[in-house]
Amino acid sequence: MFTYYMPTRIYAGENAVQKNAEALVLGSRAMIVTGAHSGKKSGALDDVLAVLQEKSIPALVYDKIENNPTIESAVLGGRAAREFGADFLIGIGGGSPLDAAKAIAVYAANPPAEGSDFEMMDIFKGTFRNAPLPMAAIPTTAGTGSETTHYSILTLHSIKNKQSFSSPLVFYKSAFLDGRYTVKLPLQVARNTAVDAMSHLLEGFTDTRASAATDYIALEGLRIIGPRLSKLKNGGLTTEDCTALLWAASLGGIVIAQTGTTIVHSMGYPLTYYKDIPHGMANGLLLGEYLRRTAEVLPEKVNSALSALGFGTLSEYCMTLQELLPCGESFTKEELENWTENTIKSKNVAICPFPVTRADEIDIFKACLL
Ligand SMILES: [Fe+2]
Repeated sequence: MFTYYMPTRIYAGENAVQKNAEALVLGSRAMIVTGAHSGKKSGALDDVLAVLQEKSIPALVYDKIENNPTIESAVLGGRAAREFGADFLIGIGGGSPLDAAKAIAVYAANPPAEGSDFEMMDIFKGTFRNAPLPMAAIPTTAGTGSETTHYSILTLHSIKNKQSFSSPLVFYKSAFLDGRYTVKLPLQVARNTAVDAMSHLLEGFTDTRASAATDYIALEGLRIIGPRLSKLKNGGLTTEDCTALLWAASLGGIVIAQTGTTIVHSMGYPLTYYKDIPHGMANGLLLGEYLRRTAEVLPEKVNSALSALGFGTLSEYCMTLQELLPCGESFTKEELENWTENTIKSKNVAICPFPVTRADEIDIFKACLL
């Protein structure tokens, strides 16, 4: 038995925002949640502001979202939305602004008392007194899939790690996928984010919550990414390729919204927290060893995933990952062992296709990083 739920309406193609303005305008006062650069550089912010102006919708551009946003910055964003009187949000950016917008939507409608850490942390229970503000998403990277998930991942300095919350109430109402917003990304950013999308598809395809529905979608996502790996390696992605990669990333989101992610993600978080390694690259460093162990228990699934990507063997695939992800970082045995103290507690461990102990995680880290 399985269930499937995905309430986000997707508009994909060039000028998706301009052509579907009615789906972008979800209220009468908008707060746009974005980072310092991504909204402006991609051209998405200008397109959104033009639509809102034409519809006479007052808008506040809240561009204070940092990379790997903290829970504190989401609380501040919620306060800004309340002070402006926003009744809907538009998230523009990569995973950081799109995840932050979900938390801001919650805090805008459920203000924690000033300085109340306890109430602030209530978000991780996933139940809220008041419904979060409705949201529209415009991804400016093709990786996170946040536009089609009900997850938000926040950095918690108190535990020196990231923690996610989820609620069906924070699915985006609408998402706009336009390759014009990602075609000018630096190549390494395009690679890192594509590997994140690929990681969602592969983890969701192999974890214990995979179903007939998610298998079908995951393979389709991998078939879209596969033929574009050489352009990701060498450059030359067209706007059309970029819209296709955005769609593949949304498919990755759709998959993990049903299945969750595995230890690739939970073990990747400390690489980002302690070493500042971009999220997608962190996943990519761990993906090869994850698939090698998965192939021991699910050989047919790993083979069909590899062939959907266009590879005959796992070692060919691992070679491509290495070419896509030049990581100059070095690690010590002690660091890796310390990180597993937290990573082994993650709920992702339970849905892994193979049993994972703390000693296994140490071995996986060593195999991938030393
Ligand atoms: Fe991810």
